Amino acid sequence: MIIRAEHPADIASIYQVNAIAFGREHEAKLVDRLRGVPHTLSLVAVVEDAIVGHIFFSPVTLEESNADRQLFLGLGPVAVQPAHQRQGIGTQLIRQGIEQCRQIGSTAVAVLGDPQFYARFGFIPAEEKALRCEYIVPEGAFRVLELEPGALQNCRGLVRYRPEFADCE
Ligand SMILES: CC(C)(COP(=O)(O)OP(=O)(O)OC[C@H]1O[C@@H](n2cnc3c(N)ncnc32)[C@H](O)[C@@H]1OP(=O)(O)O)[C@@H](O)C(=O)NCCC(=O)NCCS
Repeated sequence: MIIRAEHPADIASIYQVNAIAFGREHEAKLVDRLRGVPHTLSLVAVVEDAIVGHIFFSPVTLEESNADRQLFLGLGPVAVQPAHQRQGIGTQLIRQGIEQCRQIGSTAVAVLGDPQFYARFGFIPAEEKALRCEYIVPEGAFRVLELEPGALQNCRGLVRYRPEFADCE
């Protein structure tokens, strides 16, 4: 299994992986809409030339931040084809994705998802950093990870995802 950046030829397969993993097309369409937005990151997991997993990151904005020049990214969606789940592929996509975020200069990452699953990567509840998700979400589901110590110090308030998240049907 290798993890690499998305290529133009992968677009249809990425759509399929997201649609199958989530059991609906919402996330697949969202990725299509976000593609090309500045500072996004799209990685695929490939097994025997087939795309079996995908992860996407896009910029989020903080309501109050004293760090205008910092790049904050939101993780999601992440998807692994059902037949390939529970083999560590999702974990590797997330770990390598976070590393790539660091390499493109991101200082913090936010995620909305299962608290236990994301805690293993070091994501902590956003409330601990005085941050809230713009959406109504279950307690503990919105988490953040500093890639640079103190990156979220002096930040607070609502974290907003790209408008494509709200627009996507
Ligand atoms: C979430 C997902 C990407 C994980 O991919 P994966 O390749 O199966 O993940 P891994 O094999 O690396 O890790 C599996 C571990 O995570 C846990 N896990 C996986 N998905 C989980 C979820 N949604 N909630 C809680 N735990 C989850 C499993 O229990 C397993 O734990 P274990 O290692 O203790 O057995 C995959 O299950 C998926 O595509 N799900 C549907 C889409 C989705 O819900 N995406 C996440 C939205 S936040």
